[in-house]
Amino acid sequence: VRQLLPTEAHEIDPLDLYPTLDRPTPPDRPWLIVNMIASADGATELDGVSGGLGGPADRLVFRAIRASSDWIVVGAGTVRAERYGPPRLPDGARDRRIARGLPADPRMAVVTGRFDLDPTMRLFAEKEPGEPRPLVVTGTSAPATRIEALVEAAEVVVLDDSRPTPAAILAELGSRGARVVLSEGGPSFNGQLASAGLIDELCLSVSPLVVGGPSSRIARAEESGAPLPLTLTHLLEQDSLLFARYVRT
Ligand SMILES: NC(=O)c1ccc[n+]([C@@H]2O[C@H](COP(=O)([O-])OP(=O)(O)OC[C@H]3O[C@@H](n4cnc5c(N)ncnc54)[C@H](OP(=O)(O)O)[C@@H]3O)[C@@H](O)[C@H]2O)c1
Repeated sequence: VRQLLPTEAHEIDPLDLYPTLDRPTPPDRPWLIVNMIASADGATELDGVSGGLGGPADRLVFRAIRASSDWIVVGAGTVRAERYGPPRLPDGARDRRIARGLPADPRMAVVTGRFDLDPTMRLFAEKEPGEPRPLVVTGTSAPATRIEALVEAAEVVVLDDSRPTPAAILAELGSRGARVVLSEGGPSFNGQLASAGLIDELCLSVSPLVVGGPSSRIARAEESGAPLPLTLTHLLEQDSLLFARYVRT
């Protein structure tokens, strides 16, 4: 992957870059990264999934950003649409994390209100012995029978609100030792993070496609919050895909 900013470099490995970047933990919560891919005209899905927007370089960057995080948090809509499996990094990335005193893989937290999740979904069914169960974060409106059906496959935490706020979700992960949390979306979860002003870092992959259509942009909410000013710290490129990394100004 070619680095264009902050300095030009012909061949860099995203795994050498992303996990080593400075992410000062805010005083009261973990550092929050949002990582999303969008087409050049802002679409975040093709036929309901994001896979058609990316390519091999995007997968490298995606994994490097995962390797930078303690926890991955994702909306249940994305887990259902993208058929999420357990978050396993390649061996090289795991070795480097272990050398830095971190667990081999980040942990995964799913946010849900309706609790339309079941143990046959890949994320739960493909867990291997010794791997921690995914965490499901929900609110008081979640149906008890659905929680009951998932308690063996997942660790469930019911926060004290009918629909937990993003701040409460981050606080929960912070209480479990998270210093860096990565949101992988989708747009409606990111929209809440944006409205609450909680985004510290945005990693945006721009795919060289014009998609049109009804797709959401990377963050969507009923009402806009105050715009969050960002500073571009890195820009990478491969195969006309751009990988921008911004931090909160
Ligand atoms: N381009 C990309 O990088 C990218 C990344 C991710 C996703 N996507 C695409 O985005 C689409 C899915 O996005 P989406 O916006 O529809 O869904 P989403 O944000 O992934 O999930 C929305 C769901 O998350 C749960 N949720 C969100 N906030 C919550 C809160 N505060 N409390 C409790 N539950 C909460 C709810 O689940 P329940 O319905 O279970 O209550 C809600 O329906 C898919 O097409 C996917 O392919 C693209």
